[in-house]
Amino acid sequence: MSELSDFRSDTVTRPTESMRQAMAKAVVGDDVLGDDPTVQELETLAAGLTGKEAALFVPSGTMGNSVAVKAWTHELEEVIVEARSHIYNMESTHLTFISRVTPRPLASRRGAMDPDEVEANIRRPSVHTPQTSLICVENTHNNWSGAVLPLDNLKALRAVANRNGIRLHMDGARIFNASTASRVPVKEYAALADSVMFCLSKGLSAPVGSMLAGPPDFIEYARRIRKALGGGMRQAGVLAAPGIIALTEMTRRLGEDHARAKRLATAVAGLPGVSLDPEEVETNIIIFGLSHPHVSVGDFISELRKRRVLALAPFGGVRLVTHKDVDDEDVERAIAACKEILS
Ligand SMILES: Cc1ncc(COP(=O)(O)O)c(C=O)c1O
Repeated sequence: MSELSDFRSDTVTRPTESMRQAMAKAVVGDDVLGDDPTVQELETLAAGLTGKEAALFVPSGTMGNSVAVKAWTHELEEVIVEARSHIYNMESTHLTFISRVTPRPLASRRGAMDPDEVEANIRRPSVHTPQTSLICVENTHNNWSGAVLPLDNLKALRAVANRNGIRLHMDGARIFNASTASRVPVKEYAALADSVMFCLSKGLSAPVGSMLAGPPDFIEYARRIRKALGGGMRQAGVLAAPGIIALTEMTRRLGEDHARAKRLATAVAGLPGVSLDPEEVETNIIIFGLSHPHVSVGDFISELRKRRVLALAPFGGVRLVTHKDVDDEDVERAIAACKEILS
């Protein structure tokens, strides 16, 4: 157990000792000039794991998503997004700011948009209306408590995209969590999308970086957009080296995070004022509503902090995330703190 039990996000994970050693020893070149062997190794690995032909190392998940949207769209177009998605809510409006497209947010059932509703919302261009050119999905879905998108839903959305000649991008920031929970191979999810972004720096514990995977011409264009956005990195092998360890060593342990999240959710679910169905906690993110006669959400977060437990409430719901750097004792501390505050 650490001094503070930090359940704010899996982004707080520190690099492992082997990652730090790999960083120190990484063979590097100049990746903008195309000769950093460690970045090339990471990109080849990411392409192989997703079953795509090519991949690009980007500094963040947000850049991976923004580069993908920019590469698949043009001005005067529209993108269908899920209403609670990270792309729509948490990425500083890059759809409008960078791609200059309008977002069309649709409601969903735990992140899974209804394929018929998606199809009904695809717009043909006219003098009044934009043309829909892209559907974005998120798997796992962060703001739906880490929900795994059902494979059948993704297949149906793929069919909608095909029927209408539009693209499908998957924000798979936590696609390895999805695959661990559902036992659906990452490649099977990725095959349903034209492009997939996933993060190395969340549960996989690398300090920096995400991958964007897709067809070679898309990735080549994405590389130019990444440069234009200031994301071309020179001796980036130092950052790619821990990314390789993230993909070769860290994917195997995600199930531990899911088991801890389930235990924490089960213990907290019965407490006064908590609205939470532990069955809906499929991966490492717990989000619950709190309506307590004496404790507001803000009070709850600060009372937790006094008990050395860190949590966030980004959209009014309390959010607790498990990851490599919280162990069983941290979970026990969090359960005890929640009980003390709410009972
Ligand atoms: C679902 C999802 N997509 C994208 C991102 C963006 O990743 P980054 O923080 O590396 O920009 C996050 C970050 O938490 C996320 O949860």
